[in-house]
Amino acid sequence: MQNNIFLIGFMGSGKSSIGVRLARKLKRTFVDTDREIEKVTGMTVAELFRRHGEVRFRSEEKLMLNKLTSRENLVIAAGGSLTPEEGSREIFGKNSIIICLKAPPEEIFARVNRKKGSRPLLKKAFTLEDVEKLMEQYRDYEEIADFTVNTGGKPQEQIVDEIIDRLREGQC
Ligand code: S3P
Repeated sequence: MQNNIFLIGFMGSGKSSIGVRLARKLKRTFVDTDREIEKVTGMTVAELFRRHGEVRFRSEEKLMLNKLTSRENLVIAAGGSLTPEEGSREIFGKNSIIICLKAPPEEIFARVNRKKGSRPLLKKAFTLEDVEKLMEQYRDYEEIADFTVNTGGKPQEQIVDEIIDRLREGQC
């Protein structure tokens, strides 16, 4: 397996925590687009949103994706906007494997609540309803993925094993 593996999905779906473990198990390098953008710009994602706005952040995401698609053997936690417009998978580079992670709104709410302040798309005091509304407006991640894994109510190691099984089944 040499092709890059992209994890996509709504915030709090587990892209980073699962990505690190998946990369370790597959002996690949893990890359989180948010962390890479922070290194390049010298600002946290929250700071970047605050000082330069969402449009600038989205363009940094696209630039980062371009850079990463020239590498291989990575597990990449992709930022929220990194789903192709009009259903084209080209933006992830040729032959990439795209995995969608999802979880029920209640669990997303509990997860993002633990790391308040790091999600600029949610206001300071957000409710379960705010999360549900945002999820409704959001892109349909499942549509463009090779497969989807539900991360709700499962231990992380089990999720990683499930992903590896699916990759082997599909000979990805
Ligand atoms: C975003 C998700 C966040 C972060 C930024 C925008 C999104 O990352 O990139 O707040 O548009 O869904 P996580 O998915 O790691 O929360």
